[in-house]
Amino acid sequence: MKFIIVGIFLISLMIASGNAVTVTSKGVEIDLSAFTLPLTNTSYSYTVQETKNIYYFNIMDQAVPCDTKVGDKNSSVCQYIPGQSKYYSFGSFNNYTVSPFTDEPGASISYSSFTNCGKVGFRTTFLQLSCAKPNTQFEVTSVVEPQSTGGVACQLTININIPCKSTFIGGGWIFIIVILSVAVLYIIVGSIINWKVRHQHGSQIFPNIEFWKNFGCLIKDGVFFIKGKITRTPHTPGYEQI
Ligand SMILES: *[C@@H]1O[C@H](CO)[C@@H](O)[C@H](O)[C@H]1NC(C)=O
Ligand SMILES: *[C@@H]1O[C@H](CO)[C@@H](O)[C@H](O)[C@H]1NC(C)=O
Ligand SMILES: *[C@@H]1O[C@H](CO)[C@@H](O)[C@H](O)[C@H]1NC(C)=O
Repeated sequence: MKFIIVGIFLISLMIASGNAVTVTSKGVEIDLSAFTLPLTNTSYSYTVQETKNIYYFNIMDQAVPCDTKVGDKNSSVCQYIPGQSKYYSFGSFNNYTVSPFTDEPGASISYSSFTNCGKVGFRTTFLQLSCAKPNTQFEVTSVVEPQSTGGVACQLTININIPCKSTFIGGGWIFIIVILSVAVLYIIVGSIINWKVRHQHGSQIFPNIEFWKNFGCLIKDGVFFIKGKITRTPHTPGYEQI
């Protein structure tokens, strides 16, 4: 019984924290890993009508074919100029920053390359992710090229519509809320039984008071147990090896 409760507590903590790269903007949570394409032979691409230049990119990972066509390590964005048959890296996810928009739901990810672009420094890309309606597909709406009107030298801007969900409630939180509701119900019903049926007094009314006094120690043991399993150093106070 005790182990089940500790287990549920730790699992719910893990579910709530998750391992995604997320950014929150104006009450909307954007999970960047959800848009990351696996590194097979696909990537997002966009062709600019006027110049015919093609931009390939990925979110938080390398892009195909940038990874093999440019010298820049772990290139996430590259430009293909058909006239020159050349690829230029416009940034790597190894050198990124994410900032939420402040005026509307969305976020800006910038990727900087490690290779120089003349005197001005490194080529940089800004992916402007705007939250559209929840069922919208991930879609490039426009690209501002470095040499175009309004463009900045060595800097690429890709404007993208993405579907976003409200932060208000996610799967992990629903789980936590269910667990908390069950806990509250357990305390209320348990206390009433202890008070009315078992005729307990004072702190003894609280259900399983002795167990809960030890609960802190159990959680500590649980954390050390998992840490031990991960780091492979046996540290299992109070537990037998499984
Ligand atoms: C991409 O990979 C799939 C299998 O993984 C293959 O069927 C497909 O032909 C490939 N496409 C290109 C353009 O190479
Ligand atoms: C590419 O990125 C991965 C993951 O961040 C990293 O482990 C690897 O060292 C990077 N490669 C280079 C050449 O920097
Ligand atoms: C990231 O890019 C910037 C240029 O935008 C550069 O100054 C910095 O050294 C890069 N970071 C790393 C870790 O190379």
